This record gives sequence, structure tokens and C-alpha cells, in this order.
Amino acid sequence: MKIVLGADHAGYPLKERVKAHLTEQGREVLDLGTYSTESVDYPDYAAAVGKAVVANPGDLGILICGTGIGISIAANKIKGVRAALCTDYAMAKLAREHNDANILALGGRTTAEAAALDIVDAFLRTAFAGGRHQMRLDKIRNLEAE
Ligand code: RB5
Repeated sequence: MKIVLGADHAGYPLKERVKAHLTEQGREVLDLGTYSTESVDYPDYAAAVGKAVVANPGDLGILICGTGIGISIAANKIKGVRAALCTDYAMAKLAREHNDANILALGGRTTAEAAALDIVDAFLRTAFAGGRHQMRLDKIRNLEAE
């Protein structure tokens, strides 16, 4: 499983920390930018990571902007993306267990670094539970066709 990273300028510092954390764990990481704190537009990175994750089912994405709000809204416009903005460990675990979220969104200006790394670990280490949750995901997929 590859982890695809993306962030705007507000998320860049946390993205670099997350990338180091994942690399230390020996995970395969694809960093689609941004690569500095120069101002950029978060929808561009949401689109790049969203399309990459949908093209390679099984891969997971992590998107970071200032709050995680804009970048998750944008990513969820891509068909097949289930991006979840998580602010604690339990949310990250449930986003995988119940929602089979394929992208984790974080707020680089709103979530402390240590908490963010815990959230990342919970997200990547938790599997989708299936069962009754799959029927609900099927209903979400149907909404994409409307
Ligand atoms: C950028 O200033 C900021 O608006 C962006 O990172 C994000 O927080 C939007 O939701």
C-alpha cells in the first residue's frame, strides 16, 4: 500500500513531518506537493491526491490544509473519494472501520503535531469492518451517479 500525500502552504510543515514519520516506518510514500510555504490553492492538491488514490484502489491519501476543511471538501468532489477530516484518534479509527475512508484530511494549523501523528497511525492501521457499513457505502456510491 502506497500513501499519497498532498498539502497547501498551510499544511506543508505538517506534511513534511508526516512524511518523515511514514518514511521512518518504512512505508512507501508519494508526495504530490506542495513543496514550500509559498501560497498555493488547496483544490489543486486535493484533486491530484484524490485522482491518484481512486486510480490505485488500496492506496490511501493524506491531505493537509490549514483546517483540513477546504481540502476535504474539494477531495470529496472526486468520484470514488471518501475523504474524512479527523481531529482525534477515535475519529480516524472510525473513518476507516465504518466509512472505509480512503483519504485522511488534517488541519495543519488546528491539530498539534503529536496528535496528528497519532491520527495518521490510527487511520493507516485500521481496516474497514464491512458488513452493514458496506451497504451504506453502496448508497453513497449511488449518490455519485445522480
Ligand atoms: C489557506 O489560507 C487556508 O484557507 C487553507 O489552508 C484551508 O484552511 C482552507 O480550508
